[in-house]
Amino acid sequence: MSLAGKTALVTGSSSGIGAEVCRQLHESGARVAGVDLQAPASNRFRHWVADVRCPRRAEEVVQEVVQEFGSLHLLVLNAGITADRMLWRMTEEEWDRVIDTNLKGVWTYLRAAAPVLRRQQEGQVVVVSSINALRGKLGQANYAASKAGCIGLARTAARELGSAGVSVNVVAPGMVRTELTRELPPEVVERARQETVLGRLVEMEEVAATVLFLLTPAARAITGAVVQVDAGQWMG
Ligand SMILES: NC(=O)c1ccc[n+]([C@@H]2O[C@H](COP(=O)([O-])OP(=O)(O)OC[C@H]3O[C@@H](n4cnc5c(N)ncnc54)[C@H](O)[C@@H]3O)[C@@H](O)[C@H]2O)c1
Repeated sequence: MSLAGKTALVTGSSSGIGAEVCRQLHESGARVAGVDLQAPASNRFRHWVADVRCPRRAEEVVQEVVQEFGSLHLLVLNAGITADRMLWRMTEEEWDRVIDTNLKGVWTYLRAAAPVLRRQQEGQVVVVSSINALRGKLGQANYAASKAGCIGLARTAARELGSAGVSVNVVAPGMVRTELTRELPPEVVERARQETVLGRLVEMEEVAATVLFLLTPAARAITGAVVQVDAGQWMG
C-alpha cells in the first residue's frame, strides 16, 4: 500500500529491524527520517545521529524533521538494546542503560512528536516491544521490564492521543536473527526455534511488514493493540 506523501521517523534505523522498516517505508513512497547512534549502511534516506535517551535531542530532531519535510505522520520507536544477566548479578549500570534506551527512549520521541501529531489531527505510531515483555525471560529482568513498560506507555499514549486521530500500537517480535541476537549461543537459538509452532524463527522482513501494515490507512482503526510476530513462539 502506498505511503506517498507521508513522513516517517524511525529510531534504531541503522541496523536490523529498523533498517528494514526504513527500506520498506522508502519502497512504499514515504519520506524517511532515520535516527540512530550510528550512521546507516545505506544513504538512501535522511539520517539524524542521536541518542534516543536524550529528550532535548529528541525535540531538536523532531523539529528539524518537520522543518525539512514539512510534516511528520508516522513514528516507529524501535531503538533497543540488551544487557543480559541474572537479576542478582545485574549491575545498576546495566539496569539503567537498558531501561533508559528501551523505555525512556520511546517516551522522549512520543513526547517530542505528540504536539505535531495533535496539531495535524493525524498520525500512526508503532512501538517495538518483545514477547519477553509478556512472558518474562531468564537473564532479562531489565529488558523484559523495559519492553513491558513500552506496552503500558503505548496504551497510555493511545488513550491520550486517540481524540486527535492518532493510533499507537505495539509490535512484539519473537526471536529474529539480527545484530542484537548474533552473539547468542547456537543452542539458545535452536531452543527458540523449537518453541515456535511454525518450527522456524521470524525474519526481520516479516516484522517490518507488520510494522508497515500498522502504518497504512488500512490499519487506522487499530489502536492500543499488541501484535505478536513470533511464529507462535509464545501463546500465553
Ligand atoms: N532481534 C530480536 O530477536 C528481537 C526480538 C524482539 C524484539 N526486538 C526489538 O527490536 C528492536 C530492534 O532490534 P534489532 O534486533 O533490529 O537490533 P539491532 O541491534 O540490529 O538494531 C538496534 C539499533 O538501535 C540502535 N540504538 C541502540 N541504542 C540506541 C540509542 N541510545 N539511541 C539511538 N539508537 C540506538 C543501534 O545503534 C542499532 O542500530 C529492539 O527494540 C529490540 O529490542 C528484537
